[in-house]
Amino acid sequence: MTKLDSKSALTAGKMKMPIVGLGTWQSTPEEIEIAVNAAIDAGYRHIDTAHVYANESAIGAALKKIFDSGKITREELFIVTKLPFSGNRAEDVEPFIKKSLEELQLDYVDLYLIHFPAGLVNKGFDNLFPTDEKGQLLMDKSTNILELWKGMEAQVDAGRTKSIGISNFNQSQTKRILDNCRIPPANIQVELHVYLQQKELVSFCKKNGVTVCAYAPIGSPGHKNLLEKQGFSTEGLKVISPLEDPVIKEIAKKYNKQPSQVLLRYLIEYGVAVIPKSINPERIKQNFDIFDFELTKEEFEKISGLDRGEDGRMFGGRKVIGSINSFESHPEFPFPK
Ligand SMILES: NC(=O)c1ccc[n+]([C@@H]2O[C@H](COP(=O)([O-])OP(=O)(O)OC[C@H]3O[C@@H](n4cnc5c(N)ncnc54)[C@H](OP(=O)(O)O)[C@@H]3O)[C@@H](O)[C@H]2O)c1
Repeated sequence: MTKLDSKSALTAGKMKMPIVGLGTWQSTPEEIEIAVNAAIDAGYRHIDTAHVYANESAIGAALKKIFDSGKITREELFIVTKLPFSGNRAEDVEPFIKKSLEELQLDYVDLYLIHFPAGLVNKGFDNLFPTDEKGQLLMDKSTNILELWKGMEAQVDAGRTKSIGISNFNQSQTKRILDNCRIPPANIQVELHVYLQQKELVSFCKKNGVTVCAYAPIGSPGHKNLLEKQGFSTEGLKVISPLEDPVIKEIAKKYNKQPSQVLLRYLIEYGVAVIPKSINPERIKQNFDIFDFELTKEEFEKISGLDRGEDGRMFGGRKVIGSINSFESHPEFPFPK
């Protein structure tokens, strides 16, 4: 294994994705400025957001201050955002990426991802999970991911994004894009942690030159609590706690590290990028401080053995907040039912 350091990156074509990025899902606009500044100070050069996270404007404002201060330049940062579910038609890509660029106060992003393969009806920039009067999610079951991909490729041509990719796609959907594209996906972002290691998908992607980024890399602790606190239904939500796993705790103790650091270290050694989310400067620093130890072959294999396959999947069939139906009936629903 090549030695990993704070500047290590995954490469696909011209794309160089720093292997540790800051996740921002559920970070409120008020929390973002602190988080982004703490991350940049800790050495992060990769920020992950999405139009549906409703925090692009706050990230844009924080970045503007950072660039104006001269601390780092735009070219030193790798910024990822995503096309919302309700933008899954070729003609919708341009208005949505332009909206993201406007909010982020940027001329281009480094990577633009299709957030989810199954589409929803487009009801505008602010109604991203539209429902009918009965609370049924308004799916667009005519989603054509190959036509949609042409809309994504056009954004590279127009210079609005350097690279394009996919998120939450399964292997056969990824293959369909690879077999029919002009510009191949540089990256796929999927749920990936020690309990859901996605070994088949990762190996397929490596063979085909698609880099992989792990979301929920430490198991998204606090997710259920947060949803409950906000008054949302957590029906069907699976709770997993890799931070509490005895194997992880034991290895952490040996290296005088936190369980979170062992979880992240394993994933970067496994060959994927990680985007842990935190709004806490101490934890943001901790999550980047994973380059001063290395797992032994035995430790790596022990953690590899924690994989639970599909039983470890946390994000999936759950209903979208506020709706009474789920995406499962969509022809492009990506996960095993
Ligand atoms: N493409 C997609 O569909 C998709 C889906 C989900 C997520 N994502 C992306 O992936 C990112 C990461 O996923 P995630 O936010 O679900 O899960 P995660 O990064 O695995 O976990 C985040 C949670 O862990 C806590 N935390 C962070 N560092 C910690 C540490 N060192 N020790 C203990 N707790 C810690 C955070 O709380 P504090 O903030 O209080 O520290 C937060 O509650 C998201 O933010 C988003 O950018 C993408």
